[in-house]
Amino acid sequence: MKIGIFDSGLGGLLIAKAIRKAMPQYDYIYLGDTKRVPYGNRSHEAVYEFTKEAMNYLFKKENCAIVIIACNTSSARALRRIQQEYLVDYNATRKLMGESERKILGVLIPAAEEAAKYEKVGILGTSGTINSNAFPLEIKKILARQSFSVGGKRKAKVFQNAAPMLVPLIEEGEKVLALQFIKKYLKPFENKKLDALVLGCTHYPFYKNEIKKILGPKVKLISQDEIIPKKLKEYFARHHEIEKRLAKNKKARILVTDITPNIKKLSQKWFGKNTKPELIHL
Ligand code: DGL
Repeated sequence: MKIGIFDSGLGGLLIAKAIRKAMPQYDYIYLGDTKRVPYGNRSHEAVYEFTKEAMNYLFKKENCAIVIIACNTSSARALRRIQQEYLVDYNATRKLMGESERKILGVLIPAAEEAAKYEKVGILGTSGTINSNAFPLEIKKILARQSFSVGGKRKAKVFQNAAPMLVPLIEEGEKVLALQFIKKYLKPFENKKLDALVLGCTHYPFYKNEIKKILGPKVKLISQDEIIPKKLKEYFARHHEIEKRLAKNKKARILVTDITPNIKKLSQKWFGKNTKPELIHL
C-alpha cells in the first residue's frame, strides 16, 4: 500500500519532497487538484467536498493506507469533519469486509505544536485558513493541555494575517510581484516583536529565504516541510500496524486534475527532472 499526499495544487510538492527525502523507502502518490486550485478563498462546504473526493480517489483507486493532507486550507476547514464523518463510515465498511483501517493526517496541528513553544507567534495563511481561526484555536488547546499536565499557566499571543494574492502569484512564478505582496502581508507583524512566524500555506516556503530576510534573525520561521517528515516518522514508529502495510519500492507518482502548460514545468522544478504528471478525474 502507498502513502498519499494531497494538496489543492502543486505547493504540497515541497512537503512531499521533504517526506520522501526523509523516508525514501516507501511508495508515494501525490495528488494535486490543479483544476480547482486555489482552495483558499472557497467555502467550507466546497473545501470539504473537494477534499473528500480526493481522499476517496487515493483510497479506492490508489490503495493508499494513509493520506497526508498537505494543504493548510483543507486541514483547517475540512480535516476534522472528514475524519469524523467520511473516514469513520469508510473504515466501518472496510471492517465489515475484514479489511484494514485507513488513516488521514493533516499539517496544521504539527505546525501549531511547534508554534506553541513561543510566546508571540504570527500566522500567515490563505483567507480560508485565517478566517477559520484554526491555528489560534489549536495553539490554545495545546497550551491548555500543557498547563494542565505540567502545571502553571502557559500563554501565547497569536497574530494572524491572510495573504490572498500570494498563491496565484507563486503558481505563476511571478517572483517580483510575489515579493512586493510578501512585504505588504508581513507589515502588520512588524511591531509585534514576534518570536516566531508560521508559514501556514503550502506555497510560502518557496520564499522562505526572502521572508527570513524581511523578518530578521530574531524571528523563528516555522515551515511545515521541516516539521512534517519528522512527525510522520514518529507516527509510523508509534503505529506499526500501518507502517508494516506500506510498500517499500521507492516509487513516486504525481497525479493532477488538470495539466496546464505550467504544471509540467513546475512539477519538474519542484519534484525532479523526470517527473511526469498524470491526468486524473475526481
Ligand atoms: N494548498 C493551500 C494551502 O496550503 C494553498 C493553495 C490554495 O489556496 O489552494 O492553504
